[in-house]
Amino acid sequence: MLDYIYNRHSIRKFQDKEVPMEDLKKILKAATQAPSGKNLQNWHFVVVKNKEKLNHIAKIIEDKVNTAARKIKDEEKKSKLLSYLNFCTFFKAAPLTVFLFVGPYPITGAEIFLGENATEKDIAAFSSHNPGIQNIGAAMENLLLAAASLGYGGCWMTGPMFAKAEIQEYLGFTKEGYSLACMTPIGVPVESELHSPKRKPLEEVVTIIE
Ligand SMILES: Cc1cc2nc3c(=O)[nH]c(=O)nc-3n(C[C@H](O)[C@H](O)[C@H](O)COP(=O)(O)O)c2cc1C
Repeated sequence: MLDYIYNRHSIRKFQDKEVPMEDLKKILKAATQAPSGKNLQNWHFVVVKNKEKLNHIAKIIEDKVNTAARKIKDEEKKSKLLSYLNFCTFFKAAPLTVFLFVGPYPITGAEIFLGENATEKDIAAFSSHNPGIQNIGAAMENLLLAAASLGYGGCWMTGPMFAKAEIQEYLGFTKEGYSLACMTPIGVPVESELHSPKRKPLEEVVTIIE
């Protein structure tokens, strides 16, 4: 019954097959069916299908890592950073990539619950559950589950966000208050990718209070 959960895996290698627009729309619609605080739906999906553009975005990421790596003297740290690059650029081999933008989600009530003398630190703690970004997480998970259910695969990616300013500028997408939060390629998975790493046992991550 829960197969649709267990059949989702992070896919980093794709077959050379397109994603028809009809399927893409089904996946995006499922993403927007996610719950969101106050039903604010503070998300925006930018889909890039153009190969040259995807390659260019990967190059932006590579250039930024290589520039940073040149400044690192410690060889071990340098090679660690360079190997991290593989986890940030594989999307260029997919038929498309979805860039997910997060919009404003005003957290109200701080002045009521904390009083007028609340410090910035108090207000930051009050808002630390960040419902705005939780909405994006829900949308991305829906998107990935929908993609997997339709025979596609993707990989939630925040690694490349160290270059988000440059990626955003290149995409040229602007919407008041929106910024890039994460991205995922979508495509038909290569068979060998259909597995996930082990999870922690329930006892380690669950506390039941009777
Ligand atoms: C918020 C978030 C960010 C992630 N960023 C990356 C990433 O930048 N590159 C990558 O290869 N995988 C990334 N992943 C995928 C995780 O590595 C993957 O979900 C985890 O290892 C579990 O594997 P599974 O998705 O196959 O079950 C990310 C996942 C999440 C939820």
